Amino acid sequence: MTLSAISWDETGGPDGRGVLRILDQTLLPGRSVHRELRTVDDVVDAIQALAVRGAPALGVAGAMGGVVALDEGEREGWDEARLAAAVDRVRAARPTAVNLAWGVDRVRPLLASGRAAVLAAAREVALEDEAANRELSRLGADWLLARIDRPRLRVLTHCNAGVLATAGWGTALGVVRELRDRDRLEFVYADETRPLLQGARLTAYELAEEGIPHAVQVDGAAASTILRGLVDCAVVGADRIAANGDVANKVGTLGVALACAAAGVPLLVAAPWSTVDLATPDGDAVEVEQRPGEEVTAYAGVRTAPRVSTGFNPAFDVTPARYVTAVATERGVLEPARGLTPVGLAAAGASRPE
Ligand code: MRU
Repeated sequence: MTLSAISWDETGGPDGRGVLRILDQTLLPGRSVHRELRTVDDVVDAIQALAVRGAPALGVAGAMGGVVALDEGEREGWDEARLAAAVDRVRAARPTAVNLAWGVDRVRPLLASGRAAVLAAAREVALEDEAANRELSRLGADWLLARIDRPRLRVLTHCNAGVLATAGWGTALGVVRELRDRDRLEFVYADETRPLLQGARLTAYELAEEGIPHAVQVDGAAASTILRGLVDCAVVGADRIAANGDVANKVGTLGVALACAAAGVPLLVAAPWSTVDLATPDGDAVEVEQRPGEEVTAYAGVRTAPRVSTGFNPAFDVTPARYVTAVATERGVLEPARGLTPVGLAAAGASRPE
């Protein structure tokens, strides 16, 4: 599909200069509106409002945010310290998806080398992400098909880990697309997902655009869908995978994982190696983003809970490694529940790309 969540257009800005363009994901599927991000404030706001979201897309936003900062700094006459502070603001815009910090860190050492070097590195981050997603999807589909004896699989997914959450192809939805391409996909259950109905709006949009049979279900239905035997596997994305294999992902993933474990259904996490953070030893060390309570106590701007009620709104949860059957990365498939963890794979020779 030709959707693109985020891209750099080097001549497309109003003044004929470069501009960071995103598809505003808060408006889909009703409206396809592209926004141009020309300042660091624009980038931080878009990230925090979930106009651009999903861990790998945040990695691209972090890297391309470095170019935005350089351009703004040149226009405004910033010194080195001001530029560094601006880049730090992009890095800290959301805390849980390690890809955001990783994307910024890919370009930060190049800031002194000039704009061309930073832009080239940022574009490389995007290209690498799509290639990684295609490879991990292939490996993830192989892994599932080697273990599930059905002609076509029924897949449950949570949140949106598709084209919209990445530089292209998707991770969890990349595996779904790979199964479809092999004619091994039967049906997808898409959890609706809070706070902004990323599953109901974005995953369903991607599936509908490609004619993939699916149903949207409330997150609370997932456990029973799994225990009733309606799915063969759950495939989800990740925001950060700790060294021991604990997985931080959209809140509600833990419930899916527990139901999968109870039902003996595999939980496959699909994520590029850029989501693996060997510096985070385990899930306890992951900062879970707390979002405004109003995202829970109101719907579409209209208050639904009583005025006195506060909202509790963690954006993510952490699934312990013992419930993670497999993690498909472009470097291979890990099996945390069996002790095959990221730190083990790294020790066996893989190292995080700088
Ligand atoms: O709050 P969001 O929409 O950014 O959360 C997104 C998720 O939790 C995704 O599952 C994750 O980032 C992986 S995207 C390939």
